[in-house]
Amino acid sequence: MSNKKILILPGDYIGPEIMAEAVKVLELLRDEGEAIEWSFGHLGGAAYDAEGHPYPESTQKAARAADAILLGAVGGPKYDELPREVRPERGLLGIRKDLGLFANLRPALAFDELAGASSLKREVIEGLDILILRELTGDIYFGQPRGRRTTADGHAEGFDTMHYSAPEIERIARVAFEAARKRSKRVCSVDKENVLETSRLWREVVIQVARDYPDVELTHMYVDNAAMQLVRRPKQFDVIVTGNIFGDILSDEASMLCGSIGLLPSASLDVHNKGMYEPIHGSAPDIAGQGRANPIATILSVGMMFKYTFDRGDIAERIDAAVKQVIRDGKRTGDIAAAGEAVIGTREMGDAIVAALRRK
Ligand code: NAI
Ligand code: MG
Repeated sequence: MSNKKILILPGDYIGPEIMAEAVKVLELLRDEGEAIEWSFGHLGGAAYDAEGHPYPESTQKAARAADAILLGAVGGPKYDELPREVRPERGLLGIRKDLGLFANLRPALAFDELAGASSLKREVIEGLDILILRELTGDIYFGQPRGRRTTADGHAEGFDTMHYSAPEIERIARVAFEAARKRSKRVCSVDKENVLETSRLWREVVIQVARDYPDVELTHMYVDNAAMQLVRRPKQFDVIVTGNIFGDILSDEASMLCGSIGLLPSASLDVHNKGMYEPIHGSAPDIAGQGRANPIATILSVGMMFKYTFDRGDIAERIDAAVKQVIRDGKRTGDIAAAGEAVIGTREMGDAIVAALRRK
């Protein structure tokens, strides 16, 4: 059997720093005999610097050929003055669209030792483990028509169109039910069915798909209530599935339940579970080059890659356990340290996780 091919795109600012630690994890797994290999490419500002385009042809070819992609983060002040079509975010949108990455998975996992870092009460978030699944390529962000016009009485007006087809809803719903099967077997579909036609169709299709998953419990919730429930009693959820715009907002809300943005991984999958894996945070220009960035989100993204694209949930569990162990041992980068706690750097955190992983 041939090796699984991983394309690594470190990106900009802290991107290469956190990626170096994720690579240590890959090296350990390869040395243990996992059939993986990887190569490096450019995306975002780094790609613009090297090849004049944020998603250059060399990266396109490598991305299409890879089984999975590991991304750091792109963007930063150095690139803020560039014309829109070559800005780093263009690289990100380009690769998502090119690869058809329609399913965005964002786990929100609380580390109990860090519960003090959350803005919520300890008992509300202790043991929290939810997965938000956001549809990524449809909805009001892409629906036509959109634009500007002038109303009959002479006022400027902007308009967008919320839009979902049944196949688009069906495929994201299937990802949700499959994911729930590997977890606590509960899906909550979030919509605005009382008001929106798109949501009426969404609910119908999700109910249909649920018939293929009798072992998974399906509930429905309006998005405004979901926003409230996420901060009131987040542990009631297992998998949340929702459209692009609702998911954008709810997933950012959920990420704040866990304390630091430096902890949370994500996956974006296509129809064959090929995926791009990345921390949810950005390139953190304010701490770049100082060896202070937290590599945990990127390392947990490696775990998600093994779980969802390589079908190796066992390795994902080992990585999760190693990260938990290191946090339990009191290792803290600056973003997760409480006042007075000793702080370690990016490299020390990576090394500690690799050492813990070696023992698991
Ligand atoms: P950011 O996520 O880069 O930083 C927000 C705050 O969190 C900063 O104070 C930063 O130091 C801190 N932070 C982020 N990651 C951290 C880590 N691993 N360890 C410790 N602290 C961490 O968001 P910001 O500042 O709004 O954006 C900076 C740049 O990143 C912008 O150019 C933005 O466009 C880009 N960006 C890229 C994303 C991506 O590549 N997917 C996502 C979000 C932003
Ligand atoms: Mg966002």
